[in-house]
Amino acid sequence: MMLDKPDQKPHDRLAEALSGDMAEVNALIRTRMASEHAPRIPEVTAHLVEAGGKRLRPMLTLAAARMCGYEGDNHVKLAATVEFIHTATLLHDDVVDESEKRRGRPTANLLWDNKSSVLVGDYLFARSFQLMTETNNIRVLRILSDAAATIAEGEVLQMTAAQDLRTTEAIYLQVVRGKTAALFSAATEVGGVIAEMDEAQVKALFDYGDALGIAFQIVDDLLDYWGSDATGKNVGDDFRERKLTLPVIKAVALGDDEERAFWKRTIEKGRQEDGDLEHAIALLNKHGTLEATRAEANEWIAKARAALAHLPAHPIRDMLDDLADYVVARVN
Ligand code: IPE
Ligand code: IPE
Ligand code: MG
Ligand code: MG
Repeated sequence: MMLDKPDQKPHDRLAEALSGDMAEVNALIRTRMASEHAPRIPEVTAHLVEAGGKRLRPMLTLAAARMCGYEGDNHVKLAATVEFIHTATLLHDDVVDESEKRRGRPTANLLWDNKSSVLVGDYLFARSFQLMTETNNIRVLRILSDAAATIAEGEVLQMTAAQDLRTTEAIYLQVVRGKTAALFSAATEVGGVIAEMDEAQVKALFDYGDALGIAFQIVDDLLDYWGSDATGKNVGDDFRERKLTLPVIKAVALGDDEERAFWKRTIEKGRQEDGDLEHAIALLNKHGTLEATRAEANEWIAKARAALAHLPAHPIRDMLDDLADYVVARVN
């Protein structure tokens, strides 16, 4: 039975529609994140897993499988795999970014140390591979292991592009597609693959995840200047880390000599002073680049929704359609 609750957020509606499957995913995550041999592992994983997280990527896998009529139980294993890969990358990412807050809590690197985050992240990666082999589906293994490699490439590319004012929008897109969209598209694609959909439909699922993931990261980068601490992360982290995200790339391109000197000092040389973040935000507003960035996210959302049109009509397809809107609605 489908209850209509118009005030419910698309994300919650999807979670409700998939609640039975999601409970199994969470149970599986809990079992597999533990380790009998190294007590530090359950300490760190419990800290992160109990803080919640939106569980967006596992929901995408479940949603894709269910709307394609899948009736086995591999979708639960794959959804947990995807969340493990995600959690592993977060542990590593917070070390690389020297972040102090994640999911509204102090990061593991802050509470324990970088070593624990790196090693427990490795453990979760390994656990994700164990889980996905249990599906005995070689195509699914290829998609998810490709995604894991692509995520790492995206993070490394970002590291070398960071602090370099010559970074173009094309490089930014490559980074975002790698570090974030690769897991979204793999999450949706494997759902279609296990349901044995035809190639055009598997491609549509991939395209939806790819465009949704790109929009999601663009919005995440936007919220780093525009948001509040309600995101569970600190505002201004990207500026402090001297990361060239889309709003800044656009502002650098439009800036005069004085503004370029400001970006050079703060981002390239990293000589930041009190008030610099506020000045950076003022420049982004002056050139309208926060608005332009949001418009770009909306274009990706339109692509995501267009991809859904190639898939069979289903209540979950409508929820994925609403979810696409919601990703950008966080800043609309
Ligand atoms: C955070 O992803 C990493 C990015 C790609 C921006 P989420 O915002 O989905 O993180 P959780 O899982 O909900 O905490
Ligand atoms: C997210 O990247 C990490 C990955 C997708 C691997 P960011 O560094 O941009 O995201 P947050 O802001 O830490 O969540
Ligand atoms: Mg980060
Ligand atoms: Mg990062």
